[in-house]
Amino acid sequence: MCGIVGYVGNSKSVEVLMGGLRRLEYRGYDSAGIAVIDDEGTLTTVKRAGKLKVLADELAAHPIANGGTGIGHTRWATHGGPTDENAHPHLGDNGKLALIHNGIIENFAPLRDELLAEGYTFLSETDTEVAAVLLGREYQRVGDLGEAFRAIVNRLDGAFTLLAVHEDQPGVVVGARRNSPLVIGLGDGENFLGSDVAAFVEYTRRAVAIGQDQIVTITADAVTVTDFDGVSVETEEFDIAWDASASEKGGWSSFMAKEVSEQPDAVANTLRGRIHEGHVEVPELTAFGDDVLAGIRRIVIIACGTAAYAGQTAKYAIEKWAQVPVDVELSHEFRYRDPVLSDDTLVISISQSGETMDTLMAVKYAMSLGAKAISICNTQGATIPRESDAVIYTHAGPEVAVASTKAFVAQISALYLFALHLARVRGTLSATEQLEQVEELQAIPAKLATTLLAEDSVRQLARYMSDTRAVLFLGRHVGFPIALEGALKLKELAYIHAEGFAAGELKHGPIALIEPGQPVFVVVPSPRGSAHLHPKVVSNIQEIRARGARIIAIAEVGDAAVLPFADTVIHIPLAGPLFEPLLAVVPLQMFAMELAIAKGLDVDQPRNLAKSVTVE
Ligand code: F6R
Repeated sequence: MCGIVGYVGNSKSVEVLMGGLRRLEYRGYDSAGIAVIDDEGTLTTVKRAGKLKVLADELAAHPIANGGTGIGHTRWATHGGPTDENAHPHLGDNGKLALIHNGIIENFAPLRDELLAEGYTFLSETDTEVAAVLLGREYQRVGDLGEAFRAIVNRLDGAFTLLAVHEDQPGVVVGARRNSPLVIGLGDGENFLGSDVAAFVEYTRRAVAIGQDQIVTITADAVTVTDFDGVSVETEEFDIAWDASASEKGGWSSFMAKEVSEQPDAVANTLRGRIHEGHVEVPELTAFGDDVLAGIRRIVIIACGTAAYAGQTAKYAIEKWAQVPVDVELSHEFRYRDPVLSDDTLVISISQSGETMDTLMAVKYAMSLGAKAISICNTQGATIPRESDAVIYTHAGPEVAVASTKAFVAQISALYLFALHLARVRGTLSATEQLEQVEELQAIPAKLATTLLAEDSVRQLARYMSDTRAVLFLGRHVGFPIALEGALKLKELAYIHAEGFAAGELKHGPIALIEPGQPVFVVVPSPRGSAHLHPKVVSNIQEIRARGARIIAIAEVGDAAVLPFADTVIHIPLAGPLFEPLLAVVPLQMFAMELAIAKGLDVDQPRNLAKSVTVE
């Protein structure tokens, strides 16, 4: 939430900052702003409510003097609505200092009162302006941005990444972070800061992640990182595994359309290097310790939203293959109760961004209670993997559209790799059984490519249904989390009321919702792979059809039993029972996207949302 970029170098900062903000806009798009110190040493700030284009148009209409130092921000509003006044940067030290912020400063009210009592005034309703004024007050005292930051950071409660520039220190950007992301980009005669590497990948693929409670100062030629007490800390450089073109639309109508189509590669890349001669060996898990894994007695998966549905899907595979009990919990619910964990509990967090605050807090909490923690993450250098004992990266490539698609199938794939690695270590699957599952997994990319061919028929269906007001989704077993995911996609993209249910639960209440014409998507299990479940789902279909529901079935090619009862059938290739969800989710993603397009909505940036939810 909120995208942050900082730059010092010879280039013209306005272009670098606006380019960085364009790549970060998925993190928040309520308003945007930049502050630049020009070659004369004058600080200019421009900020506007609305999407980045509003700011770009303003800068085109009224260009500002350019320079080599600047900061930029794209906002997802927390304190105060999306107005020009509340947009960042905020100013301190009589307008000589500009500051941007990602996170929430929880104790902003008493700090604001303290500053008001001293005669300071405020122009916005934000918590951020309080930090800007506080930093400005300290700057007046110490005359150095880094020193001023060290003086204030311990007074701020909550989560923050703060970046600031000061007119009296041109050529310097200083940042501080606690529980919110910040990454350094190392250039040649120029350096960058960003909420994530997308901010600067156009200019450099060398990056350094900044740890918890650290302060970073960049100039054109130097980068220094200290803790909050000013003690130097060691940093570790890493190479960004993708190039700038991966985060471009590249001719697609939307990032979402591009990312849906990239799902075969997302899975193939996640499997690469982790399967050897018919068995799974995840190097990151071997380093973590096979003996530790063998001793695990319980697994708790923590995640939010789509990532939690990936966890719910994988629960079936982990329990079946590795025979370890698995609980799946929403991070924010887990964090604020009193879970019983022990040192033989393994916590697996799932997060595309690796920055979701709810999940980060849950991981820290679980570790403080003695659990070991593995992170499934798609973003190099992100906070959650850094805080965990081990990480299995998904290699889906950058996911820019706010609604998660390719990351979801990559997360399930990574979790299946985990499950098969664990099963091997624990000896719960024979070599032949392991091989059967591995072959199923390796066949998924090609089957995903086939599934994507349903695009035209899904589009037609979506257009036909464009004035639908409510849609239900049903599934059983691994089809259940897919029903939940289908409903979530439709809600967030097309703003349509949608609910997912376990099909067996219908008769316990939800069937009362069925009235003539009610559209219901049903994820139908394979008649061959899930012979025991298939007839039950067909019966569920008959029950709701008898009450007038309009059935759209996602069913395996050749499933003749479902045809007489469905109004529409979308076919997916045959896959083993645990692998169907990786395919069945695709038409649901496409349906939500196409319905949103049919309604004229922005599928990449749905209202009220942001890609990386860095507040609790
Ligand atoms: C929905 C969606 C969200 C995220 C959730 C967790 O399409 O994208 O539900 O899955 O906010 O985000 P990460 O995976 O970054 O922790």
